[in-house]
Amino acid sequence: MAHLLVTGGAGFIGSNFVHHVIQNTDHTVTVLDKLTYAGNRASLEGLPDDRFTFVQGDIADAALVDELFADVDAVVHYAAESHNDNSLHDPRPFLDTNIVGTYTLLEAARRHGTRIHHISTDEVYGDLELDDPARFTEETPYNPSSPYSSTKAGSDLLVRAWVRSFGVQATISNCSNNYGPYQHVEKFIPRQITNVIRGIRPKLYGAGRNVRDWIHADDHSSAVLTILEKGRIGETYLIGADGEKDNKTVVELILRLMGQDPDAYDHVADRAGHDLRYAIDSSKLRTELGWQPRFRDFEAGLADTIAWYREHEDWWAPAKDATEAFYASKGQ
Ligand code: NAD
Ligand code: DAU
Repeated sequence: MAHLLVTGGAGFIGSNFVHHVIQNTDHTVTVLDKLTYAGNRASLEGLPDDRFTFVQGDIADAALVDELFADVDAVVHYAAESHNDNSLHDPRPFLDTNIVGTYTLLEAARRHGTRIHHISTDEVYGDLELDDPARFTEETPYNPSSPYSSTKAGSDLLVRAWVRSFGVQATISNCSNNYGPYQHVEKFIPRQITNVIRGIRPKLYGAGRNVRDWIHADDHSSAVLTILEKGRIGETYLIGADGEKDNKTVVELILRLMGQDPDAYDHVADRAGHDLRYAIDSSKLRTELGWQPRFRDFEAGLADTIAWYREHEDWWAPAKDATEAFYASKGQ
């Protein structure tokens, strides 16, 4: 049994991880989350008081971080500004949280000798051509495209430097696109599901040929727990579940699963610098650490996710109108 500090635990993937840990281990969890527009305290409702504590605060607050590190066995670092579109309109918070925030945690890990796992993204590798048989591996050179992905790449490099120069006990994972419950309505899949529920036509950027490699958030959680328990210090592990799909296919599937005409969507302005394709080769994680994904049927996982959004309108409705107004102002 261990006491884990989970940064960004009120966000999409962090909250899925906290629920996964409470259900599948006997660890206790403290969440440190600033509750930005993307954090939602309601995503952590129903957790047992004797195993779960919530602290509202900033990962760049060195005094608070130092106090929390004194009391935990390991840290799992999810907190970030996470949305590419936002990073194109206002990059500054991405630098503050993703770079300075990660630096603050690394300095605390160095002082306290704390084990830390850094959550990152496949976007650090840039993108692949549609017809390229290659997938990203741990050896693919970094080549990020957006302010978001460049700050994530920078944070990964800080972690590597703190391991090498200061002996910090860190691992890194780079995961592909997650889907599942508790994802903010600004993101692709929840945006389209909640659009259909509201009677708004789904919005596809450009021609919709861009490919993302989808993994269920619960599979991301089990992979992170595996790396935390068995990963080798200083190593990077790619996390993916062989889920490549183009955006047009995903929109059409959402519409079909929701009983609509699969063509009932609009093409809108494309994202600047839009990465074409991501694809993960997760052989290292599977072979060395024995991890396997549990959700292998994307259509079934998507149907469950649609059901979750239908049943939890109270969770997403407060953010919906402002999110759509913002997109509309950008022609998206
Ligand atoms: P999210 O935007 O849903 O959640 C981010 C959380 O971090 C929020 O709860 C927010 O309040 C918190 N936060 C932001 N700034 C903070 C700060 N300065 N101090 C403390 N808390 C702060 O993001 P997500 O989609 O859950 O992504 C979580 C992590 O996983 C990120 O590091 C992201 O880069 C990575 N990731 C995401 C995906 C994906 O598909 N969503 C895939 C791979 C990796
Ligand atoms: O690959 C991992 C990354 O996945 C994470 O690092 C990011 O934090 C996470 O947000 C996600 O990034 P993407 O930019 O791929 O996700 P997003 O949900 O914003 O968009 C997915 C795809 O759908 C992308 O090609 C853009 C497109 N899109 C998005 C929106 C919001 C649309 O076509 N229409 C939309 O309305």
